[in-house]
Amino acid sequence: MPTELVQLSITNSVATVTLNRPDKLNALNGEMLDRLDAIADELDRNRDVRVVLLTGAGKAFCVGADIFEWSSLSPLEMGRRWIRDGHRIFERFARLPQPVIAVLNGYTFGGGLELALAADLRLAAVGVQLSFPEVKLGIIPGWGGTQRLPALIGASRAKQMIFSGARVDAAVAEGWGLVNEVVAAEELMARAHQLAAEIAANGPVAVQLTKQLIDGAEMASLEALAGSLASYTEDAQEGVAAFRERRAPQFSGR
Ligand code: COA
Repeated sequence: MPTELVQLSITNSVATVTLNRPDKLNALNGEMLDRLDAIADELDRNRDVRVVLLTGAGKAFCVGADIFEWSSLSPLEMGRRWIRDGHRIFERFARLPQPVIAVLNGYTFGGGLELALAADLRLAAVGVQLSFPEVKLGIIPGWGGTQRLPALIGASRAKQMIFSGARVDAAVAEGWGLVNEVVAAEELMARAHQLAAEIAANGPVAVQLTKQLIDGAEMASLEALAGSLASYTEDAQEGVAAFRERRAPQFSGR
């Protein structure tokens, strides 16, 4: 069986998603985007998963979009498939009910940084470098970077990173609030699992509701909350009973 370019493993309520194309520093190709999409589907439905860790195999977290793949796309394919799919899939990770922790084990560039920004928290190994090198290639960060980066670290620092394409190391990134913690490389996964276990031990519904509140619930989430509340009122029971008994309902407002 061919090795998956993005792997998913689930242990003790913690899912680990590993970008697994280490020979290309986990550069994201179309196959990996499709696999991330399928994994987001699975995580979204899996009520046993309480925390998601997102990391990379080898010496990089992810060096961004596969330059060779996107540079051969037609303008229409670029717009429809590459940019819109990437946007949608990263948004799916951002909107997963469970907290997502990006565990930055190495280079985090371009689309890799955009994926990390779609996570709720970021842990980085000492020495990890982060950058948006797109302008050096004459393109732009097109998977949400121009929106998520300033939202996290402010417009001024975001502009510095995006305009210059310069690398920022983990220590500076921590000072800017771009990563939550910097950890020795050999302790990175252990720290990630410790934090995941701490979160996973808490009430999952409460944790997930707070994520939605902090992120600004989208209409679908608001309707889900309102729908759950309304369905469990005495009025809803009365409405269903009245329908069954073919009579007018007597609502009490409870
Ligand atoms: N897309 C496709 N392949 C990539 C890639 C990318 N974004 N980044 C690296 N690779 C490939 C290289 O082509 C190389 O493949 P090869 O061994 O078949 O030639 C392999 O990954 C290793 O990269 P290499 O450049 O040899 O490693 P390095 O340690 O010398 O340098 C980087 C690492 C990250 C500094 C360098 O690879 C780089 O600048 N990559 C581009 C990052 C970028 O611009 N990202 C934004 C994309 S829109």
